[in-house]
Amino acid sequence: MRLEKIHLLNYKNYEDLSLDFSPQINCILGENGSGKTNLLDAIYYLSVTKSAFSSTEQQNVRHEAPYLLTKGVFCKQEQQYTVSCSWQRGQKKQVQNSRIHYDKLSEHIGHFPVVLISPDDTDLIRGAGELRRRFFDGLLSQIDSGYLSDFISYNHILRQRNALLKQFAERNTYDSDLLDSYSDQLLDVGHRLYQKRANFLEKFIPHFSRHYNNLSGKKEEVGIRYNAHFAENEYRSTFYKAYRKDLVLQRTTRGVHRDDYDFRIDDFPIKRYGSQGQQKSFVIALKLAQFDVLRDEKQLKPILLLDDIFDKLDDSRIGKLTEMVVQQSFGQLFVTDARPERTQSIFGNIEGEKKYFTVQRGEITEILVEGEEDQPDHHQNGQQNRQRKPDNVTEE
Ligand SMILES: Nc1ncnc2c1ncn2[C@@H]1O[C@H](COP(=O)(O)OP(=O)(O)OP(=O)(O)O)[C@@H](O)[C@H]1O
Ligand SMILES: [Mg+2]
Repeated sequence: MRLEKIHLLNYKNYEDLSLDFSPQINCILGENGSGKTNLLDAIYYLSVTKSAFSSTEQQNVRHEAPYLLTKGVFCKQEQQYTVSCSWQRGQKKQVQNSRIHYDKLSEHIGHFPVVLISPDDTDLIRGAGELRRRFFDGLLSQIDSGYLSDFISYNHILRQRNALLKQFAERNTYDSDLLDSYSDQLLDVGHRLYQKRANFLEKFIPHFSRHYNNLSGKKEEVGIRYNAHFAENEYRSTFYKAYRKDLVLQRTTRGVHRDDYDFRIDDFPIKRYGSQGQQKSFVIALKLAQFDVLRDEKQLKPILLLDDIFDKLDDSRIGKLTEMVVQQSFGQLFVTDARPERTQSIFGNIEGEKKYFTVQRGEITEILVEGEEDQPDHHQNGQQNRQRKPDNVTEE
């Protein structure tokens, strides 16, 4: 699967941008703060209808603009799909697909999978459990629409139950039948989510370990444990026993929304005992395992977005990753770098169709690198700027 072109209006620092991409390697080069990550984020947004970095649409729309639009042409099994995702201040987000009708926004999830590897990823290790849950829930939602709909209803029931607990406290009332009815629903849906998470992890771990060992040269053992309330015996009665606590805190204290994943290295928590390099390798292995799982489930290669990854890796790990590019383990690739010469030297000797772009304050220009000018041109609208290569991008 690949993204052939993109059109952005008012997405973060892009006012009006149209680009045609290479089906293989796309290098996005530019100074700090120019908009490299924002472009990858727009691609991510087209895939999952959300930004990977900001939690509200207000942060995604260009300052003071009334709306945002991301539009892309994906090619999957030789068919083109035009997808647009837009949002207007004060209104609901809209997603459209030229080939598939959606009744709900969530139906779009999973059709055009992308995997993003970014410097913020070590938050997955160091941050709160919510981030780890979001990673696994996001992945499960992309491969199992039943999981996604259960997940949406679980959160809906949870919000209602929490609102009820608040109401009891505010009005100094208590209705155990009403609370029980929400608890029963939460336990039923929650248990399904728990089982799917646990089963999924068994499939995920072998991919993850293989990638970690490949990156690190098998120096240490890594593992992931799923800490779940539902794994406990008598989880139903413990849930009901927590009523008093729930009432005091005015929220639901037990359930899958509180589960966590324990990331371990040589059987110690990596959060506390892993070196920075080990933590980086750990999250890259998580993301590459995500790639494998999506590829196997969808029977297509997800788009891989590598944000600033070379900055964070030593030469041997960069070597391992580029080896995978050479072996064509990946499909379409987007890579950002603030140092053009580094990207050029990494990709210079790799065969494949490449495009280089430079970003300057929300404007993107394609750079023509000599020796690659005869490659097929994917332009159709002619809106894209093209320039000769600057001095710091050397010839192939
Ligand atoms: N909603 C928005 N409206 C306008 N500009 C925005 C918005 N959100 C972010 N920006 C701008 O986008 C720029 C950051 O872009 P981005 O994070 O893509 O940079 P980058 O090229 O990846 O930089 P670095 O090399 O430091 O990672 C900043 O100048 C920021 O002010
Ligand atoms: Mg960036």
